Amino acid sequence: MPAPSAPSPRAYERLVDDLSSEVGVHAAVSWAHAGAVVRHATEHRLVAPVAGTPGPDHTRRVLAALAAAHPALESLEDPQVAGVWEDSISPAGWERITQLWNQVPLSDEGHRVDGYRLGDAYQALSADARKARALCQTPVWVADLLLALSVEPALDAVGPDQIRMIDPSCGTGHILLAAFHRIRAHRPRGRSPHRAVTRQRGVERALQAVHGVDLDVYAAALARYRLLATSADLLGGPISAVPAAWPVQVAAADALLSTDEPLLRPGRYHAVVGNPPYITVRDAQLREQVRRSYPEVCSGKYSLALPFTVLMTRLAAPAGTVAQLTANSFMKREFGRKFIEQYLPQVDLTWVIDTSGAYIPGHGTPTVIMVHRAQPPQGDSVITVRGNRGEPRVPQDPAQGLVWRAIEEAVHERLDLERLRKGMEAHRREQQFTTTTEVA
Ligand SMILES: C[S@@+](CC[C@H](N)C(=O)[O-])C[C@H]1O[C@@H](n2cnc3c(N)ncnc32)[C@H](O)[C@@H]1O
Repeated sequence: MPAPSAPSPRAYERLVDDLSSEVGVHAAVSWAHAGAVVRHATEHRLVAPVAGTPGPDHTRRVLAALAAAHPALESLEDPQVAGVWEDSISPAGWERITQLWNQVPLSDEGHRVDGYRLGDAYQALSADARKARALCQTPVWVADLLLALSVEPALDAVGPDQIRMIDPSCGTGHILLAAFHRIRAHRPRGRSPHRAVTRQRGVERALQAVHGVDLDVYAAALARYRLLATSADLLGGPISAVPAAWPVQVAAADALLSTDEPLLRPGRYHAVVGNPPYITVRDAQLREQVRRSYPEVCSGKYSLALPFTVLMTRLAAPAGTVAQLTANSFMKREFGRKFIEQYLPQVDLTWVIDTSGAYIPGHGTPTVIMVHRAQPPQGDSVITVRGNRGEPRVPQDPAQGLVWRAIEEAVHERLDLERLRKGMEAHRREQQFTTTTEVA
């Protein structure tokens, strides 16, 4: 039988429009997405079987079972988070949801449970998340490059048991999942294979290391579900088998303005990674509040990208690395002047990578990757990767686009050189020490 063709973005919108006439928009998005989560959890045996046939009641019972499976999932029973508890839908509405998910594979490549497709489905269903909060998933291949520039050097410096990373605008967790796997599977360079940790310890340390915050309460809940689903799958059991004491550190909060969210305590993270929102705030009162909290960069019609850079720097430990994919509009518009002339010279900017020519799905605005360390400038050079042309055509597989591949190669070549240089320096220091000891 031929594989069903993927639904168009309009199909998701139509489904939400139709369900909204029954239950309102919040519950409509929630019902549609709950259909996907429940199917994902059941197919991968992440939750104990729940009696009954698929339908609205069964969906609520599976969600309740998930909420009871781990303390980090309790919010799935909160109507403010999961609108399915507000109002029930009709059998006809349920049929529409079933038809949609029959056309969409919900497991990732190779039947993996990481939930990238669940995250993408939420983005496709929620116009509010896209328009009001700028939810736009960071593709895993972009996340991988950001992590190579930030989490990887931090892993080399402090090791996988000590490292803490955060994405303060984590959405449904694409970057968090990529960081989770990198930290879980990390092997210190030069160590023999028998030093490898057990799978259980790898999962525990990755959960300890990864932190996220997002304004969108459902996106944050979904990120927690994805981290737990992946952990459970690696441990070979349901979510309830992941020890309740293991932390799943993703919070729902306004990262720019919250004063009491413990995950946002400054100076804690060896790597701060993100793809922050780069919209301007529409609400005038909120806009002024953010301006007052980040006067060093908010000028004119500022984009949220700028206060987010300040926030990310504040979150980093001294000399910690901040890596972000952000809009390059601050380079071209007046509101960016203060940022470029007064803020950036105070931090240790290490990389500026022009990604405006690359095709990154959903990121219609031209982008740049910036990396800096939370310390005053240490040298007089910044590594730049400058684009000179865009993709000749929309690549079939965006990760293999000519421009993106060229960027990746340039970055990795440079990172390999740096690693070689550091290795040689360490070797030289060791030799000097040996010689000095011998002479003494
Ligand atoms: C470009 S998306 C990031 C996507 C994420 N990296 C991922 O891959 O799923 C921007 C995110 O910023 C979040 N956001 C917007 N304003 C925020 C704020 N003040 N505090 C925290 N998160 C915020 C949005 O909800 C959205 O999820």
